[in-house]
Amino acid sequence: MTSLVLFSDLSFSAGCINNCFSDGLNVLRTLISSPELQKFVRVLWLGRNNSVVVGLQFGDEGKGKIVDYLSSSFDVVSKFNGGSNAGHTVVTEEKTFKFHLVPSGSLSTKHIVLGNGMALDPAILINEINSIRDYNRDLKIHVSQGAHVVTPMHKALDVIEENIRGSLKIGTTAQGIGPAYEDKYARTGIRIEELMSKEKMKQKLDVITAMKRELLSGTKYSSQKEINSMIDELYSEGNELKPYICNTSSKLYEFDREGLEILFEGSHGTLLDIDHGMYPYVTSSNTIAGAISQGAGFSFRRIKNVIGVVKAYTSKVGSGAFPTEIIGDKADLLRKEGNEFGTTTGRPRRVGWLDLKLLNYSIRLNDVDYLALTRVDTLGVFDSIRVVVNYDCENECNPPADPKDLDFQEFEGWGRLDSDAISGITRNGFNALPENLVNYIEFIEKSVRRKINIVSVGNKRNLTINRSPIMSN
Ligand code: IMO
Ligand code: MG
Repeated sequence: MTSLVLFSDLSFSAGCINNCFSDGLNVLRTLISSPELQKFVRVLWLGRNNSVVVGLQFGDEGKGKIVDYLSSSFDVVSKFNGGSNAGHTVVTEEKTFKFHLVPSGSLSTKHIVLGNGMALDPAILINEINSIRDYNRDLKIHVSQGAHVVTPMHKALDVIEENIRGSLKIGTTAQGIGPAYEDKYARTGIRIEELMSKEKMKQKLDVITAMKRELLSGTKYSSQKEINSMIDELYSEGNELKPYICNTSSKLYEFDREGLEILFEGSHGTLLDIDHGMYPYVTSSNTIAGAISQGAGFSFRRIKNVIGVVKAYTSKVGSGAFPTEIIGDKADLLRKEGNEFGTTTGRPRRVGWLDLKLLNYSIRLNDVDYLALTRVDTLGVFDSIRVVVNYDCENECNPPADPKDLDFQEFEGWGRLDSDAISGITRNGFNALPENLVNYIEFIEKSVRRKINIVSVGNKRNLTINRSPIMSN
């Protein structure tokens, strides 16, 4: 009897040890596979992974897709410049999203931050917030109280100013961005926090309309009644946005201190930077990575990776020099294949070969660590492909419109990536790319002395090759 009890005790204890051991193993397994713990270890080991994605050409490089792809491994995605002149397309399995103001990372991250450097159209912002709410229900939204407001009056001014420019016409997106930044720098601009006060808006608008009386004279904004109804509209939009408005600079600082990782998303492209781009055919904000300090109130010294996005060819909307531009049937073919029509305006984009001279300039300005190359699938439409390596040009950011001495390299095409090629690539990554495409990629890497870490072979998220875990997702 005693031995029976002893035996059952023993087997009970052995069972208990066994259970405890396997429970322990399960807990350990769960802990190890937990993304939170993996991230904690990585942060301890490698430091915080705060990163920025910037465009290295004239905008529309595919930043939206790359930011969306990377964003699930970041806790926060923040924008710091521009407004609804930006247009980013994000294609998920279920839906195609077109974003202008909210970050392209809004679908997969935990927090989005719209920094003080942005120019925000409240009506567009409310629409976009509603469109992402259903998709990412837990998303927390933070809008800077210091960002500037773009009103319908600014949009009218954008069109009028373009007409006055005549031959100096920029080809703006007519989103009112230039005029809103003009008011910002004239120190008469309306800031987001002022949307909650009709008196403050009226005070500012009295000054703006007085300063711009002549410009506004042919528009409905010359009437006080129209201005008042615009104020009413802005006031009600301000109240809708109120729950999100805060000091985003200190929010970002707190996030960083808590160990959350931040991905900054640059709008537009380096060559559209107001200071370093091809002035005057530029946008009205700074688009380079360093603009994070000003446009988000977050120190650039806390950024670890600068990721530059470059399209396998070049596109440009609006006027100004475009040394590698292709015209005629070839351009039509590329435009059609790549659906190169503006996300914001629907305008056909000008298209051209990759310009390594300008790419090197952009890489220098942003101090790019890694490159993401997009649209290699589109370029597959050509039998032979060119890369412009050099041309005579005294001033890096002021190239001739039509250089006579283009030094270019020619590559054999890799053809359209059919479904077999695509499924090979999704299975085997870089190793499955056609040899001619690998030659193209390696030539670019050698020419700019940077690794192309990400290669995008299509619009969808899964059509992305990530060659090293530095930018894991
Ligand atoms: P994303 O973020 C392409 C261009 C306009 C115009 C010039 C000035 O989608 O890459 P603006 O309306 O800013 O005053 O226009 O800048 N531009 C862009 N082109 N992509 C963009 O943004 C652009 N944002 C501005 O076409 O030539
Ligand atoms: Mg765009």
